[in-house]
Amino acid sequence: MSLFNVYPRFDITLTRAKGVYVFDSNNQQYLDLYGGHGVISIGHSHPAYINQVTAQLEKIGYYSNSVNMPIQEVLANKLAAQSGYHNHQLFLCNSGAEANENAIKLASFHTGNKKVIAFHGSFHGRTAAALNVTDNPKLSAPVNLDNFPVEFIDLNNVEQLADAVNSNDVCAVIVEGIQGVGGLNAPTEDYLKLLAQLCKQNSVVLIVDEIQSGYGRSGKFFAHQYAGIEADIITMAKGMGNGFPVGGLLIHPDIKPEHGMLATTFGGNHLACAAGIAVLDTLADEELLKHVIQVSKWLINELQPITKIKAIKGKGLMLGVEFDFPVKELRTALLNDCYILTGASANPNLLRILPPLPIKIDEIAPFSIALKEILA
Ligand SMILES: Cc1ncc(COP(=O)(O)O)c(C=O)c1O
Repeated sequence: MSLFNVYPRFDITLTRAKGVYVFDSNNQQYLDLYGGHGVISIGHSHPAYINQVTAQLEKIGYYSNSVNMPIQEVLANKLAAQSGYHNHQLFLCNSGAEANENAIKLASFHTGNKKVIAFHGSFHGRTAAALNVTDNPKLSAPVNLDNFPVEFIDLNNVEQLADAVNSNDVCAVIVEGIQGVGGLNAPTEDYLKLLAQLCKQNSVVLIVDEIQSGYGRSGKFFAHQYAGIEADIITMAKGMGNGFPVGGLLIHPDIKPEHGMLATTFGGNHLACAAGIAVLDTLADEELLKHVIQVSKWLINELQPITKIKAIKGKGLMLGVEFDFPVKELRTALLNDCYILTGASANPNLLRILPPLPIKIDEIAPFSIALKEILA
């Protein structure tokens, strides 16, 4: 049977991974500055992760949400402690798109409204509602075209925001903590403060998509916490399971659950929770938020003097290095000549850097050395 060929792939086959490195079938080591789309948070094959997931598998790997799930409460309590969202409620699902799909539905259930405000450059996933608020018409099939109304506005444009949020029938504004696929543009702290205030005044649900920027990647637990605001719904996935497919929503206490309102067969199963708990324990035990800020500062200092770099965008270890030329060849040279994996984005001139969070300075240093050599 052939595979449905939708992915452009690098011609490498990975057979094992450890920490910040992955190894191919010839045992060649690669420095992983991409974490498979920003998924690897605590590092590949982390011993605490292996132990927790293995121990859980030996007890019970899966049962559905038709029985008590105390392991979900353990995860929720750890998440509250680390995120500071003590009063929000947790709903667990399986992916980023599914988290956003549920967030938009909840906002609509809660307000009775239909229209969503989203941002130019956004990416929220490929299922129906998530795709409808994603700013990329190329991803839509004909069945996606007559969906609920969405108004796309410019990030950080105050007038557009005020007009959009004041209009009738708005149920939600959805914004990424830091845009990932779009190319590392982010709402400013002042803009986020205004956004939170306008949403509150107009009874509009503020959904912050932290699927990529959350779980310590920015140096705060969630990137929007740099602005000191609280969101009504926060969506999470990627780093949450360090590779195990887990997604989730933190939901404001005013949004009341009803049986059957949301559901999923696999969401919040025992193994997924064990993976999620191992991630949270490791973030705390290794003080990774503090570490992310230190390594990020070091790397930015190293990269800033490189004259061919036009801008360094993003926060923590969610960085975009922008040039005034397309980076396709540079990425290929980094991979083929220096064995360093990096990411791309909608901005062809931007290298995306999303390493495992425990990466040490001496582990990331070869990246700046390689960049200098290739650009010389
Ligand atoms: C900000 C953001 N939201 C949502 C998604 C969709 O997540 P998934 O691919 O798990 O459905 C992504 C994936 O790249 C993302 O970066």
